[in-house]
Amino acid sequence: MFFDREKELSYLRSLLNSEPNQILFIYGPINSGKTTLLLKFLESLGDEGIGIYVNLRSRPILRFDDFKDLLFSRTRSRDVLPLVLASMEVIFGIPVPKKIWETIESPRDAFDYITDFLGKLRKKGRLPIIVFDELQVLKDLKVNGPLIYELFNFFIHLTKELHLAHVIVSTSDGLFLSNVYTHASLYGRAKYFLVDDFDEETALAFLISNGLTEEESKIVVEYFGGKPVYLVEVINEKRAGRDIEEYCREQFMVRLNQVKPLVRKLNDPSILIDLGEREVLEYDELTEDMLMLARENVIFIDPVRGVIRPQGRLELKVIRFISEKL
Ligand SMILES: Nc1ncnc2c1ncn2[C@@H]1O[C@H](COP(=O)(O)OP(=O)(O)OP(=O)(O)O)[C@@H](O)[C@H]1O
Ligand SMILES: [Mg+2]
Repeated sequence: MFFDREKELSYLRSLLNSEPNQILFIYGPINSGKTTLLLKFLESLGDEGIGIYVNLRSRPILRFDDFKDLLFSRTRSRDVLPLVLASMEVIFGIPVPKKIWETIESPRDAFDYITDFLGKLRKKGRLPIIVFDELQVLKDLKVNGPLIYELFNFFIHLTKELHLAHVIVSTSDGLFLSNVYTHASLYGRAKYFLVDDFDEETALAFLISNGLTEEESKIVVEYFGGKPVYLVEVINEKRAGRDIEEYCREQFMVRLNQVKPLVRKLNDPSILIDLGEREVLEYDELTEDMLMLARENVIFIDPVRGVIRPQGRLELKVIRFISEKL
């Protein structure tokens, strides 16, 4: 059911013709389709590159060993290189022979192995592209100090210094990203690419090509904008014979009842009126109210543009509904 993303895919494909120099941060509101896009991109590499995907959210990470488990995929064979070179598929986790895996005891050991592995791929003429999805889960993990900054230094080493691999990091955590964005060591060493919900026109085309009428599609877009996760759900509901408008209204009520209790936690509820009226608000500094709304996934922080906005059309609608009664 994958739809569109031509612009984003063409931007990502341009990496294949460039030497790795900077870390690429893919960011965007929740459920905007970042993971789906990145996997699609990795699947399309062919023999030009080698796509490696590491998802850090699939299991809780409390200590280094959990991180190590997610980072690597263990193999029985003693030499992983021939296997990797023969495969045209996305590789999940960095492959490592079990015997070597057992000797990896620290981030340093892990990074040394990965550098060596990527260097060998590079020598064989294949450009590795590694995606670290949901990197924010590491934000509180400490292994001799915060692991996340050690990891960033490693990524800088792989890209800017050794030019061994493209490193793509994806997150929808705006708070995490705004900390990252202002972090001195990343200045000039990272670039940022927004993957947003579909625009209205694309969302309509997606819905209509999946069997919704024009009238139904307009209702859906009016409730959910172009957030892919909802569009897919609506298509499934339609196939199951559900009344589309009723489904939209129900989802609106669900979200409304989640957001309502947050209003009394706000120091100044007028932020909701401003958001409802203007949709996008510039900020100089993130206020406590903004941080709370971001933590609760009501708003999305875009530190690159210095703005906050509702996570999606549904949140905007809920905010407008609530702010009318303030
Ligand atoms: N291009 C697309 N075409 C069709 N469906 C899509 C597309 N992108 C995303 N989806 C649908 O939306 C769902 C959510 O997308 P995805 O998980 O990629 O979002 P995300 O931005 O990675 O979310 P999160 O913020 O949780 O990391 C997918 O499971 C898929 O069903
Ligand atoms: Mg994701």
